Amino acid sequence: MANKLGVGVIGCGNISKAYFSLAPLFRGIKMRACADINMDAAKMRAKEFKLRAETVNDLLKDDEIDIIVNLTIPAVHYEISKAVLDAGKHVYSEKPFVLSIKEGLDLKSRAEKKGLRIGSAPDTFFGGAHQLARELIDSGKLGRITSGTCHVMGHGMEHWHPNPDFFFQPGAGPVLDIGPYY
Ligand SMILES: NC(=O)c1ccc[n+]([C@@H]2O[C@H](COP(=O)([O-])OP(=O)(O)OC[C@H]3O[C@@H](n4cnc5c(N)ncnc54)[C@H](O)[C@@H]3O)[C@@H](O)[C@H]2O)c1
Repeated sequence: MANKLGVGVIGCGNISKAYFSLAPLFRGIKMRACADINMDAAKMRAKEFKLRAETVNDLLKDDEIDIIVNLTIPAVHYEISKAVLDAGKHVYSEKPFVLSIKEGLDLKSRAEKKGLRIGSAPDTFFGGAHQLARELIDSGKLGRITSGTCHVMGHGMEHWHPNPDFFFQPGAGPVLDIGPYY
């Protein structure tokens, strides 16, 4: 592919490592730069993955960046994604995409006005299992679906996350943090 889309990341915390290490598998994109409110975190990832560390404002203005991946904490997902769209770039956000329907509709309308794309993790919905389930439901073979249930068991976030504070702040909790996966 001749022209690769330039990708920048805002939020260089725990999950960012997975994005930086797996990005080379996708031929249409090229990770170019990263930013964080904590410049040391951005510099650390930049060094590790041979990227440019930039301030959030500089990344938003960077002409080599077409898409920004929002890997910040849930409480600021909306404000960061909004700033990305206002800067004229596509945005892909970690879950939860936003914390209210109002915020989601606002991002939708900002993206549509500028012809930009918005998307959110988890993208497991594109996988074979989810797509087959969707096809079965859409085909009507299962009749009308009237209810659903899911169960999650875990020790608690503080058992695995190095900096778990955000799981106990607005935007977290089982519905917004775990719900998006299902
Ligand atoms: N899809 C998955 O499997 C998965 C897994 C883990 C986390 N997540 C989601 O990814 C997001 C990030 O999780 P994490 O574990 O990396 O969190 P983290 O706390 O380790 O990292 C978040 C980073 O965002 C930065 N940040 C916070 N506010 C900012 C702002 N206003 N501007 C710029 N940077 C800012 C912080 O300094 C920090 O470095 C969360 O929404 C979480 O739910 C998804």
